[in-house]
Amino acid sequence: MNPFNVKKYFLSGLIGCFWGLTIVSQSVASGITDEREVIWVTAKEKAMLLSEMRAFLNASQKVLESNLSGDMKAVEEAARLVGVRLFTNTPEEIQKKLPVTFTMIGPRAYMGFESIVNEAVGSGDTKVIFSHLAELQKNCVACHSLFRFEVKP
Ligand code: HEC
Repeated sequence: MNPFNVKKYFLSGLIGCFWGLTIVSQSVASGITDEREVIWVTAKEKAMLLSEMRAFLNASQKVLESNLSGDMKAVEEAARLVGVRLFTNTPEEIQKKLPVTFTMIGPRAYMGFESIVNEAVGSGDTKVIFSHLAELQKNCVACHSLFRFEVKP
C-alpha cells in the first residue's frame, strides 16, 4: 500500500468515526423520555380537543397579525372564536376526564382571549392586546409541558 492510500484510509476511517458518533449522539438525544402526564380519551374526544387547540393557534396568529396592522374588528373576531363561548362548549364527558391542574390552566387561556375581545371593542390599545396575548400564551406553554392526550385502546 502506498503512503497516499494509507492516508486516504486513515482519513475515511476518521470521518467514519465522526459520523458514527453523530448518529449515536442523535439517537441518545431523541431517546428523551416523555414525562408528561397522559390524559386518556377516546379517538373522537382527542380529535375534538386537538381541533380546539388548532383553533387556539389560529386565533393567536390572527390576533398577532391584525393587531400589528391595528385592525380591531379582525382582532375581535379572531379572539371571540376562542373566548368564553368555546370554553363553555366543551362536552361534560370530556371535562370529567381532565385533571384538576388542566382545568385550572385551561380557562385562563379562554379568559385571556376574552380580555382581548374586550380591549378590541373598547379602547383598542394595541400594546394592551399584545400584553394580553403574551400573558395568555404562558398558559399554552405551561399546559403543554404537563400533559398529553392518548387514545385508550
Ligand atoms: C389546559 C391545557 C392546554 C392549554 C391551556 C393549551 N393546550 Fe394546546 N394542547 C394541550 C394538549 C394536552 C395537547 C396534546 C399534546 C400531545 O398529546 O402531545 C395540545 C396540543 C396542541 C396543538 C397540536 C394540535 C394538533 O393537531 O396536534 C396545538 C397547535 C396547540 N395545542 C396549541 C395551543 C395554543 C396556541 C394554546 C394557547 C392559546 C394552547 N394550545 C393551550 C393542552 C393545552
